[in-house]
Amino acid sequence: MYPRLGVNIDHIATLRQARKTVPNPDPVYAAYLAEQAGADQITVHLREDRRHIQDRDLKILKETIQTRLNLEMANTQEMLKIALYLKPFSATLVPEKREEITTEGGLDVMRHQDALTRTVNMLKEAGIRSSLFIDPDLDQIRASHKAGSDAVEIHTGKYCEAKSLPEENHEFQAILGSVKAGRKLGLQIFAGHGLNYHNLKRLLQIEEIEEYNIGHSIIARAVFVGLPQAVREMVELIRSKG
Ligand code: PXP
Repeated sequence: MYPRLGVNIDHIATLRQARKTVPNPDPVYAAYLAEQAGADQITVHLREDRRHIQDRDLKILKETIQTRLNLEMANTQEMLKIALYLKPFSATLVPEKREEITTEGGLDVMRHQDALTRTVNMLKEAGIRSSLFIDPDLDQIRASHKAGSDAVEIHTGKYCEAKSLPEENHEFQAILGSVKAGRKLGLQIFAGHGLNYHNLKRLLQIEEIEEYNIGHSIIARAVFVGLPQAVREMVELIRSKG
């Protein structure tokens, strides 16, 4: 089995929101094209400030997506209510700060153990797969398992932004160690953030990673070659295993 590709379409909505007067480009159409090109999942982050994805997008995506809808969300009452009502296939809990450009760093699961455990349980009762977005850190892996989460998504930002080979090697080893430890505990292992057509190749050696959620690099490439081709190239890369 090949790892799944979740295409994050937030940046299609970012472009639309740059001109709020026109409903273009529509993330719903982007999701359709991504699925047609081989995406296994569509990922969206409904942020508290609604800077890109809107409630309307989420509702229509839930009705129209033919693969899986993965909702990235902060652990707030508002988002939990939306998730329990809409019932996406999965919910990925992420930290969220208003002033950040994108999700910087993973959740501190130990610090928010009780609150995250409560949310994971409620998602589970609603039949929604839960995933916690964490840094490649063994304590966070253990805490995620303790919270009862089905999966963890390893934040690959530091690996992707490494400025030298030794730094990259260090981050790769941290990811590898976390993946192995997580699998031993029975967690499903996903990865995402900052991945592109180059830095993904090395991670594909890690057989245990079942799913990649990738946004910026695919949407950036789509500007020049079109979304179907940009998605197809990523699917082909994953299927070639690097
Ligand atoms: N996974 C999670 C949990 C994220 O928060 C993000 C960023 O929205 C991504 C994956 C995708 O990151 P990128 O846009 O850098 O590919």
